Amino acid sequence: MPSPAETPRNETTNGSRATGSELVRFDKVTKRFGDVTVLDQLDFSVDTGKHVTLIGPSGSGKTTILRLLMTLLTPEEGTIKVDGDYLTHQERNGRLVKPSEGHVREVRKKIGMVFQHFNLFPNMRVLRNVMEAPVHVLGLSKDEAEQRAKQLIELVGLSEQLDKYPSQLSGGQQQRVAIARALAMRPQVLLLDEVTSALDPELVAGVLDVLRDIAVSTDITMLVVTHEMSFARDISDSVLMFDRGKIVESGSPDKIFSEPEHDRTKEFLSTVL
Ligand SMILES: Nc1ncnc2c1ncn2[C@@H]1O[C@H](COP(=O)(O)OP(=O)(O)OP(=O)(O)O)[C@@H](O)[C@H]1O
Ligand SMILES: [Mg+2]
Repeated sequence: MPSPAETPRNETTNGSRATGSELVRFDKVTKRFGDVTVLDQLDFSVDTGKHVTLIGPSGSGKTTILRLLMTLLTPEEGTIKVDGDYLTHQERNGRLVKPSEGHVREVRKKIGMVFQHFNLFPNMRVLRNVMEAPVHVLGLSKDEAEQRAKQLIELVGLSEQLDKYPSQLSGGQQQRVAIARALAMRPQVLLLDEVTSALDPELVAGVLDVLRDIAVSTDITMLVVTHEMSFARDISDSVLMFDRGKIVESGSPDKIFSEPEHDRTKEFLSTVL
């Protein structure tokens, strides 16, 4: 079994068509709930292989962005592209139309998400939790899925726990299984929404260490929402500061955390640093 450091950089993902270019693009995306505008004509992109962190106060729209990418929500206006394909539309005869379910399913396969509450299958042991979707959704053989699952379970440091049920694991261990399960689908982009915020404080570091390993040892693109600012500083290529559904300021972690320009960023950081 390879250690995390030895895991080939191209092993985790399907391999992107668009190396070195935009993997995710939001173009003038507006999301409203009733008459409340939560995202307002939002433009941003994430390049292939980069780690981008979204920070900002509660209610600023961070989770909404990830839920749009998971197609749990649809935008009222604008377009979202993943690896060059429209996620929320489909091109037909040069026009953008409502996408078919099959089109959405195909594009969605490029995206994996880990939630705050890990939502493991309670009736399945660790190994089966990680193998289940690759077998049933990707159509992998059981042998291939098992081999792959064992590698990923090793990557998250749980090789000793293959036969445990989720209820027999700590919250931090369960979250590490959830990370392995998301990676098992070989997404091109991994979405992480405050994945340590439901954990007891002593379990946070172990999960963040696993994510740091994944960030350095694989080529996966990451879009991360976190309140763990030192983690964000370590793993991010860039940081986007949100307020009320708009990007207030963006840049390298050094710039955002050490020399923020906007008062809103300074004020927010003073509450979390
Ligand atoms: N399903 C929904 N129906 C109505 N309003 C919603 C819904 N989901 C989110 N909102 C509202 O949209 C805004 C943005 O929510 P979102 O969850 O994206 O914020 P966030 O930046 O992730 O905040 P937090 O840091 O607290 O997780 C909030 O005002 C929220 O109340
Ligand atoms: Mg949120």
